[in-house]
Amino acid sequence: MGHGIAELFAIAGYEVSLVDVSQDILSKALRNIEESLVKIKERGRLKEDIQTILARIKPIVGDVCRAVEGVEVVVEAVVEDIEVKKRVFAEADRCAPPEAILATNTSSLPITEIAEAVKPERRPRVVGMHFFNPPPLMPLVEVIRSGYTSSETVNRAVEYARRLGKEPVVVNRDVPGFIVNRILARVNEAACWMVARGEATVQEIDSALMYKAGLPMGAFILMDYTGIDVVCFIGDAMLKRGFKTHPCPVITEKCQQKKYGVKTGEGFYKYPAPGKFERP
Ligand code: 3HC
Repeated sequence: MGHGIAELFAIAGYEVSLVDVSQDILSKALRNIEESLVKIKERGRLKEDIQTILARIKPIVGDVCRAVEGVEVVVEAVVEDIEVKKRVFAEADRCAPPEAILATNTSSLPITEIAEAVKPERRPRVVGMHFFNPPPLMPLVEVIRSGYTSSETVNRAVEYARRLGKEPVVVNRDVPGFIVNRILARVNEAACWMVARGEATVQEIDSALMYKAGLPMGAFILMDYTGIDVVCFIGDAMLKRGFKTHPCPVITEKCQQKKYGVKTGEGFYKYPAPGKFERP
């Protein structure tokens, strides 16, 4: 999701450093950003030209410290592994200006624990900024207060979300899954157990959710779109934090088979190629 978040900041006029572990990943991220900007431009929703916006994004391979020098806000969107997140936060804390906010886009990991990876004086400036896929289109940003976050930081995060054109919702308790993923976890679980028990098919459930419940995507197509690996990470993280789930084999099998959805070309549905989304 990192490239989508970088795109939003660049559209809003910010100079952005985009860090990842390899040049290949960064080149792909920049291609994705350009494709997304083209779509937004076609809909007449871009005030500037695409090259002006792209020129604000500076790709940086590997070096978190260089990327965060002189910044006012850092948004971390690395893999959902608490140890990796803590390492990135410790590094960002070492090199970012003292007044900079360090935000995490984690889907379900405890922000209070991530905050403990930074120096005590920075902890009030660590906050959750949880975007939704695809960030350029989804209006919601959950702004999550950890056990350490100051009200000033919450207000600043809300202000950033607004400047990106988003609708922030403040989540005052750092609970597993925050609001959306906590509820989605139950929806996904109920849907999967209906399939496991032979009560309904994947297609029947998705059709019912889209055409009756009014959701833009059914539960299974949304898991494919989000990444079934991410769904498994979220489920594990919530289980570890005491959220009572009943992991369903219909989901865990997909993870074991590495059929993660759109990104691998197959999940609950098949797609034309890995990374190419087309409604089944
Ligand atoms: N950037 C810019 N524009 C994009 C885009 C992108 N990345 N992706 C699609 N678009 C544009 C398309 O070009 C199209 O434009 P047009 O109307 O001018 O042709 C428009 O958006 C609609 O796209 P589509 O016709 O391809 O498909 P949909 O009408 O289904 O819309 C969707 C796509 C907005 C993704 C919609 O299906 C949707 O809202 N789905 C639900 C997504 C959702 O719930 N996300 C949250 C997942 S949970 C999460 O992220 C949490 C995390 O913790 C895991």
